[in-house]
Amino acid sequence: MSLDEIGEEIRRCKRCPLHLTRTNAVPGEGNPRARIVFVGEAPGRNEDLQGRPFVGAAGKLLTELLEKIGLTREEVFITNVVKCRPPNNRDPRPEEISACLPFLERQLRIIDPEVVVALGRHSALTLLKLAGKEERSIMRIRGKVFDVEIFGRRRKIIPTLHPAAALYNPKLRPLLEKDFNELGEILNTGGRRKGSSLEEWL
Ligand code: URA
Repeated sequence: MSLDEIGEEIRRCKRCPLHLTRTNAVPGEGNPRARIVFVGEAPGRNEDLQGRPFVGAAGKLLTELLEKIGLTREEVFITNVVKCRPPNNRDPRPEEISACLPFLERQLRIIDPEVVVALGRHSALTLLKLAGKEERSIMRIRGKVFDVEIFGRRRKIIPTLHPAAALYNPKLRPLLEKDFNELGEILNTGGRRKGSSLEEWL
């Protein structure tokens, strides 16, 4: 099964009520052999209209943050925990998350990235829970590297803030930028970096 075939399945999916209100499902896009995958929460209005992830204001910021550390959208893979927009951008419900998670799992098993960056609380807590770690606070875990067994092998899960949170509250932006800078260093150095908040990487 290829990523495109999974994308087709997602576009036809009726596993939860979100299919009733979506314009387009948003499977995700990018490099099928990416070393790093970014996982957001769920599509917003612009994503629902275009069928592509992170194309609104938060997406513009994500694209800028990637470019600052020398990455393009094309060389990473960008997706969400939930593939259809919750009405009025409400939080996805637990049953919607569990209905949709098998798609993310299959995507990650195929892409097989070393690093999964969880954008925002929902994505971070969902991914860490799958890896057997119960966390509650995104502020406590952001910027840390969790070296965990998930989707068939050891991977780094790096939680950070959701770009939309930094747009809503500009005081958070330096934290998001700091996490991305450290991510850039990790990707360039293979993670051999001492004296940072990234000790769990070592
Ligand atoms: N926010 C998300 O979590 N995902 C998107 O694709 C867009 C905005």
